[in-house]
Amino acid sequence: MTQKVAILGAAGRIAKLAEPILLEKGMDLVLYAPHPRKIDSDIRENEHVQVVEGDVMETGKLAEAIRGASVVYANLAGSTDNDHPNTVDQAESVVDAMKSAKVSRLIWISSLGIYDEVPGVYGDWNRKTLGHILVEYAEAAKVIEESGLDYTIIRPAWLTDNDEVSYEITQKGEPFKGTEVSRLSVATVVAEIINNPEQNINESLGIDKPGTDGDKPSWM
Ligand SMILES: NC(=O)c1ccc[n+]([C@@H]2O[C@H](COP(=O)([O-])OP(=O)(O)OC[C@H]3O[C@@H](n4cnc5c(N)ncnc54)[C@H](OP(=O)(O)O)[C@@H]3O)[C@@H](O)[C@H]2O)c1
Repeated sequence: MTQKVAILGAAGRIAKLAEPILLEKGMDLVLYAPHPRKIDSDIRENEHVQVVEGDVMETGKLAEAIRGASVVYANLAGSTDNDHPNTVDQAESVVDAMKSAKVSRLIWISSLGIYDEVPGVYGDWNRKTLGHILVEYAEAAKVIEESGLDYTIIRPAWLTDNDEVSYEITQKGEPFKGTEVSRLSVATVVAEIINNPEQNINESLGIDKPGTDGDKPSWM
């Protein structure tokens, strides 16, 4: 049976790179986004794609949109209005919607540093630079870990738009390695996880590419 994947924040930069890979693998996609016109028209108009305009804080609408999906891939960035990302509220709404729609599998994009796992001077710099964003992302991850869902939390290093797939993976409890990774690498890992559901277990993956020789990463 064709796998149906619901992507939240589907106009996000990693999500837009994952979508063609997933379509190539023969999956049906539900693309949930507040501004779906940001998604390329050839993806929006693909016969295997259903587009839903919505905010993840609309829990009931979200539950309807994801019903029947085998996996939810959340590629969200909390709003920075008032300098206060609402990532925790987003995590709570996604968990509630998934339980209501009886969808149990979640892939959640988070950040390096949520477990204070980045060693050394770089770890100190990351903590200070991200500040309250990291605190919010850590709290959102806790919501997911305590949800009872079958989850994978991905903790990418600082993101670049380099056209390369190169990464190392660390597990929760291990020191983070490296400093940056391309969005294409993260999209590739997400697609691989979705395409190999038998390997899916509750876990948290740090994804990074040691060394740097290209585009300078920035958070937003
Ligand atoms: N930049 C870094 O170096 C770095 C490093 C590690 C992790 N991260 C995190 O990795 C994640 C993905 O990165 P990315 O580059 O793909 O992010 P991105 O391009 O900013 O995409 C995030 C998407 O989330 C959507 N969104 C925000 N609030 C929403 C809501 N309430 N309901 C539905 N959709 C909502 C946005 O939609 P609209 O734009 O249409 O509003 C946007 O398309 C982000 O959480 C980011 O913070 C970033």
